[in-house]
Amino acid sequence: MLDKKGLEKFNQDHLIEFEKLMSTNEKEQLANKVDSLNLSDIQDLYEDLYVNKKVIDDVSSINEVKYDVKNDFSEEEIKKYEEVGLDAIQKGKFAVLLMAGGQGTRLGYKGPKGSFEIEGVSLFEIQAQQLISLKEQTGVAVDWYIMTSKVNDKETQLFFEAKDYFGYDKSHVHFFKQENIVALSEEGKLVLDVDGNILETPNGNGGVFKSLKNSGYLDEMTDNGVEYIFLNNIDNVLVKVLDPLFAGYTFQKSMDITTKSIQPKEGESVGRLVTANQKDTVLEYSELDPEVANEFNNANIGIHTFKLLFINNVVDHALPYHLAIKKLKQLDDDFGVIEQPTLKFELFYFDIFQYANSFITLQVPREEEFSPLKNKEGKDSVETATADLKRMNLI
Ligand code: UD1
Repeated sequence: MLDKKGLEKFNQDHLIEFEKLMSTNEKEQLANKVDSLNLSDIQDLYEDLYVNKKVIDDVSSINEVKYDVKNDFSEEEIKKYEEVGLDAIQKGKFAVLLMAGGQGTRLGYKGPKGSFEIEGVSLFEIQAQQLISLKEQTGVAVDWYIMTSKVNDKETQLFFEAKDYFGYDKSHVHFFKQENIVALSEEGKLVLDVDGNILETPNGNGGVFKSLKNSGYLDEMTDNGVEYIFLNNIDNVLVKVLDPLFAGYTFQKSMDITTKSIQPKEGESVGRLVTANQKDTVLEYSELDPEVANEFNNANIGIHTFKLLFINNVVDHALPYHLAIKKLKQLDDDFGVIEQPTLKFELFYFDIFQYANSFITLQVPREEEFSPLKNKEGKDSVETATADLKRMNLI
């Protein structure tokens, strides 16, 4: 049974009404779930992020990041970086970490986004193929860590099995799950999903390092002598997964965080890399005044390398939640299914930048390295991704 007094204190007593319509089993499940939640923290999140909406408006101290431009490198420099990179990869200094726990709601595709196929080739396969050719070049299979979430873990792993890991060594592919967090109505109330459970969603990609640690893989990397983690998103069809040039650039510069960027287009939905208080950071497009965004030359494309020592030092530090309002399916008061704007809370992986001490960015040509699959139609869609893959002779 739910504790009415406890719920009233945090404005969640509407759950009592739901409980009245439930079977004994369902009641017990609901009570157990509610018991496991910290209602006070949830209320604080709601107050901070929705009621008192914090905005980023202090732009006075924000500057361009320190960056190199790949197109300015001489042939000799490129060759040198590539040699250093290949050597480091061969010596096992890099691991690859793919964030694939998102829901891909904008694409309107039901399965894990990585299983989405373009002309018969899935996004997972596009990335696996690159690790395979890296192995052919170096003789070494780089460990590939893939973050899934409760909504897509099983399906993702079954997809890999069904595709026989795309021909990559199964023993070098490691899955781990990120956490969920409750979603709230605009009134700050917990809601029920279509199965009558408290509605939860993946807690954003910012939990990536903590989940990596909790799964034991951070220790595994350390034990294996890994020095850098290469991180990337699932949806950039032109991503170069651990390209030797970037690996060599990382290794040579030896920074806590090395980032790839592109020159953003005006009004583009990409985070902007900036320096604030001597730290590089990403100002996310969803939280940024477009005029401010357009002043900066480097867009975040979700490609970075992190020094493992740095991650080990800061993995337990707290990160802030961000708010997104998305239309989500849920039950109304009469247990009918409705879809309505719901508050989703997300951690962003780049908030970990605040704890780093050294940064460098390499700006790369968009047409060679960035074509994200975000939407069904129009910008960054199946059509644009297909055209870019063909243009680069990748399909
Ligand atoms: C992201 C970046 C943005 C960048 C853009 C480039 C963040 C917070 N923002 O925006 O700065 O300009 O990519 O394309 O990263 N993911 C999870 N778990 C989650 C949510 C997301 O693993 O709970 C993964 C996704 O599967 C994806 C990546 O994180 O691989 C980025 O997430 P997505 O929601 O696509 O971020 P964008 O809003 O496109």
